[in-house]
Amino acid sequence: MTLPPHLSVKDRHLWIGGCDAVELAFKYGTPLYVTDEDRIRANFHGYKKALSSRYQSIRILYAAKANGNPAILKILAEEGAGADVFSSGELIIALQAGMKPEYLLFNGSSKTEADHRLAVEKGVRVSLDSIDELMQLDRIAGEAGKIVEVSFRVNPAIDVPTHPKIATGLATSKFGIPAATITEAYAQALVCKNVVPVGIHCHIGSQILSVEPFAKEAQVLMEVVAELHKMGVKFKFVDLGGGLGVCYEHYGGPAPAFDAYADAVMPEIISTFTRLGISPEIWIEPGRSMVCDSTILLTKVNSVKQAHKTFVNVDAGFNTLIRPAMYDSYHEVMVANRAGEDQAETYTITGPICETGDILAHDRKLPAVQAGDLIALLDAGAYGYSMASQYNGRGRCAEVLVKGDRSALMRRAETLDDLLAAVVTPPWL
Ligand code: LLP
Repeated sequence: MTLPPHLSVKDRHLWIGGCDAVELAFKYGTPLYVTDEDRIRANFHGYKKALSSRYQSIRILYAAKANGNPAILKILAEEGAGADVFSSGELIIALQAGMKPEYLLFNGSSKTEADHRLAVEKGVRVSLDSIDELMQLDRIAGEAGKIVEVSFRVNPAIDVPTHPKIATGLATSKFGIPAATITEAYAQALVCKNVVPVGIHCHIGSQILSVEPFAKEAQVLMEVVAELHKMGVKFKFVDLGGGLGVCYEHYGGPAPAFDAYADAVMPEIISTFTRLGISPEIWIEPGRSMVCDSTILLTKVNSVKQAHKTFVNVDAGFNTLIRPAMYDSYHEVMVANRAGEDQAETYTITGPICETGDILAHDRKLPAVQAGDLIALLDAGAYGYSMASQYNGRGRCAEVLVKGDRSALMRRAETLDDLLAAVVTPPWL
């Protein structure tokens, strides 16, 4: 299996950064998400370099939903990133992490009045998903005596090669306003008193491993930008949405490089900008490709059972990492304390949840596994902890950050008290 540079094997143990994964599991307990800080910084620089070597005004808005740990947002804020935030919670976490309000975009197809009010109060731009939202925001901004800069999310009707649940720019998706009718939305925004349209936003889906759909997206967006420019929209930003997919199967060859992405989208955009004589910022909102490979999930083997298959029962289930159960997704598996040993048997890795679908990995060839061993699931940094739940009365696990040979908690494990913290007993019980 090919490992990224921050993962290595020493004396049969898996290492992350300068830390032995087995020691980390012993020190902090399991299940445990472990993230390598330098890998996140390297991923950020990969995007930044590829895009800013082709166009001077680039802004990377990290998609906070991929991994919303405040430490990760702080790392990215230090690098100069902003964030795509999809809720008031993500907005506050991003601001507290030190991100500037002007580097944030408040996205979402179903925002509440309170969401709009918070965006207005904090001076954050809003990506509108409907004309109804436009009217509500115009009223709320007016009541606050403020002017809010906005974009609309355009639905480009592009079919993308990914899991249907995460294709977001299909003609049938719930997101955005169809490209064919988007001019009507901007026409209405242009006459609003408290809202100014200054951008356009699009997102075609996640875990896309070819660059062609992004090139198509750029083409559709530029056609719309040209039309809106004629109508008098003064563009400050064009937001291309999420980034590249990642190669979860380490034998499956590399994912497209940041340069290939930039080559696919930039020529069309730059030639349109030049033709129109405009130079807005280009924004992208990568989530997965920024954090996915930075993180491993460590989970301890409770028992091994020989049935119609050999099941390895571990202490993390779909309460900890839901992607395999939800999208049939694949994560590489290693036995962190037996790395490099001969592969002895085929195992299916199952969690502690009371559902048949609680399977983290099917039919994997691994070294002989026994109770007490430590399993590592790779590429768990995106949509891992952020989608974890307390199902079956289990608190969410801890998250650790590694920098070189240093490690520290960036979130402690939840306790039974945490599970009960929000509970209120109805007075008649
Ligand atoms: N911008 C918007 C508006 C989005 O909806 C998303 C992801 C992104 C950016 C970031 O996309 P990325 O660079 O991560 O592909 N839970 C699923 C993925 C859901 C993605 C939703 N939107 C998974 O585990 O695969």
